[in-house]
Amino acid sequence: NEGALWGGRFESGPAAAMAALSKSTHFDWVLAPYDTRASMAHAKVLHSAGLLGEADLATMLDGLERLAADVASGAFTPSESDEDVHGALERGLIDRVGPEVGGRLRAGRSRNDQVATLFRMWLRDAVRRVAAGVLDVVDALATQAAAHPAAVMPGKTHLQAAQPVLLAHHLLAHAHPLLRDVQRIVDFDKRAAVSPYGSGALAGSSLGLNPDAIAAELNFDAAADNSIDATSSRDFAAEAAFVLAMIGVDLSRMAEEVIIWSTPEFGYITLADAWSTGSSIMPQKKNPDVSELTRGKSGRLIGNLTGLLATLKAQPLAYNRDLQEDKEPVFDSVAQLELLLPAITGLVSTLEFHTERMAELAPAGFTLATDIAEWMVRQGVPFRVAHEAAGACVRVAEARGVGLEDLTDEELAGVDPALTPGVREVLTVEGSISSRDARGGTAGVQVARQLDGVRESLDTL
Ligand code: ARG
Repeated sequence: NEGALWGGRFESGPAAAMAALSKSTHFDWVLAPYDTRASMAHAKVLHSAGLLGEADLATMLDGLERLAADVASGAFTPSESDEDVHGALERGLIDRVGPEVGGRLRAGRSRNDQVATLFRMWLRDAVRRVAAGVLDVVDALATQAAAHPAAVMPGKTHLQAAQPVLLAHHLLAHAHPLLRDVQRIVDFDKRAAVSPYGSGALAGSSLGLNPDAIAAELNFDAAADNSIDATSSRDFAAEAAFVLAMIGVDLSRMAEEVIIWSTPEFGYITLADAWSTGSSIMPQKKNPDVSELTRGKSGRLIGNLTGLLATLKAQPLAYNRDLQEDKEPVFDSVAQLELLLPAITGLVSTLEFHTERMAELAPAGFTLATDIAEWMVRQGVPFRVAHEAAGACVRVAEARGVGLEDLTDEELAGVDPALTPGVREVLTVEGSISSRDARGGTAGVQVARQLDGVRESLDTL
């Protein structure tokens, strides 16, 4: 078992199928830049503890630096015999500085505390990139909202005509969950910023190494309080996988609407050529593939979260090799979002809205009925009575094949004497919308206020 990190007590090396099963370099190599950086920090605490002389420290740091450069350039890669990223990099270090100095690095450190630390480092950086991508989507939504301050549309519940709303209000309804996802990432980092380094295999180190010094050197807020917990828990990874899945789910809700809105039956939007695809057989096709891939990949992100939770369930303390399965789902969720987010930003910022069509449909399906009832309440009528009366107006209009706004004064009064012509002030889409002017409502003033708030969050997050 030449070059492996273990082997003293073994007479033979692993069987080929054992080695193949054990191997993780094909996915954990992304941790290599973090591994070399953390090794430099570890070398310094070995030196501070008197376990590595001045000259050896300099040799080791120089070797690690050259190794990091070779990793970055692709000149150094894992070989067939390397089990994982950690073993490969120790081989690389020993190649560069020899076994006498290179063989000292591993003192007081186990792959268990090492991989837990490196995974946290990688993830803290990765979710920061994801957050930036999410904020780009929010920015695109806010820009579209600002470009359509007065456009109206049919608001729906159960996908049925409900009440008219401003398009900007609807667009910002997709911005808020995404902003909360970014806040979740910020919050995640508080818990992720704790360093397991110094925990060793599970029980801590006897060599007088200072975990706080290494934590600070690697940009963590603190070192872990419990070495058993630090090497065996992966709730930080599950938490990140949840936030990534939530982002996928939030994007999928928007994607679904883009798919529906771009059908001729809705006709709300046209997609830009650059963000749609054609058909190999049907020449007329323009398909919303960005949105469909978003919808599809959100299922994959949910799978990554549930798969990881299943891996973690009921593992006894402390480290178990099951934990090697923790990385791929999280790496994958990040990779999928890094593909999706720029495409969704492109899609949203180039959507062309057919505002006349949306305005025409806004009152369809008697969406002003609630306005009649609420207007009557403002005149002192009990809501129960008003609800009945507005329903009767719908019945009359439906029978005559007209909209609520087309009812005559006589027809209105015939339903309920309280329905004087004054009700007409809310029997327009604009009247209905501007009457909903309390905080959070769809009135123009409130939506403008809301947009300011979203912009402010974009500036501060
Ligand atoms: N490659 C492992 C992982 O990703 C770390 C190695 C720990 N191996 C061990 N035998 N303790 O979790």
